[in-house]
Amino acid sequence: MKHFTSVHDLDNLDEALKLALQLKKDPYQFQSLGKNKTLLLVFFNSSLRTRLSTQKAGINLGMNVIVFDINEGGWKLETELGVIMDGDKPEHIREAVPVIGKYCDIIGVRSFAKFENREDDYQEKIIQQFVDYAGVPVVSMEAATRHPLQSFADHLTIEEHKTKARPKVVMTWAPHPRALPQAVPNSFVEWMRQTDYELVVTHPEGYELAPEFMGDLKPEYDQMKAFEGADFIYAKSWASYSDYGQVLSKDRSWTVSDRQMAVTNNAKFMHCLPVRRNMIVSDSVIDGPNSIVVPEAENRLFSAQAVLKMMLDQMK
Ligand code: CP
Repeated sequence: MKHFTSVHDLDNLDEALKLALQLKKDPYQFQSLGKNKTLLLVFFNSSLRTRLSTQKAGINLGMNVIVFDINEGGWKLETELGVIMDGDKPEHIREAVPVIGKYCDIIGVRSFAKFENREDDYQEKIIQQFVDYAGVPVVSMEAATRHPLQSFADHLTIEEHKTKARPKVVMTWAPHPRALPQAVPNSFVEWMRQTDYELVVTHPEGYELAPEFMGDLKPEYDQMKAFEGADFIYAKSWASYSDYGQVLSKDRSWTVSDRQMAVTNNAKFMHCLPVRRNMIVSDSVIDGPNSIVVPEAENRLFSAQAVLKMMLDQMK
């Protein structure tokens, strides 16, 4: 695995899961692996979980870790090629990325969709330039269209909490006051399609995910029908893909509450966090005994540590 930007970069998903579980049991067993290696985490956007868990993952492996909030301490970056740089951006990403690569052994990058242009976002222009020009392995800490470290942690969480070999896993859209990227649902659907779980995606019409992520999976537009017999409910809001970046609905009947959870198979409730209470999910569900949002967030540490360990192994 040279870079980690999607589930497809893993050589063996089962082995990756086993490694993450092994690291969870004994997080410090590979502390000499990262000696004299530097992890540099570049954030174009805010973060709580990704920032802290990836940092801790590097520390657990004995790495030196640098966190760089590029929009606060760095020069404003031009990301388009071929432009005359007479505006407010004094540095081009084409130089910045290879320079950053000279100061570290692995780069983590967080760069959300900008919602200015669907093609630009779906071409992954920012993280692809890191992959192309950094000269060191790149880990996506959420890019425009995927959040693979989150999906890895989600998979790990389902494996730990499932009570049957083939659980029914439902991803449901939920309302939100702002337009949010499709990275988490895209990535989750793509990742779950690598498993033999029963996967159902439910959302109002107009919120269909990109065909490259859904494949032959058809959405269920009836949320109550989707929830019937579910073992896991994963809630997330996202903006429209077809009417790109638009909020088409704020229908709070889609907020996950006891009403929908009642028709599930005593389902566990999941969300990547941060979550808007009583928009995405009712207080009663997220505070209830079936909410596993905190263990899910805890697993972000072990998905990140597994990915970093696999990269460090290749440097030996
Ligand atoms: N789930 C997640 O990526 O959280 P942060 O945005 O806080 O990193």
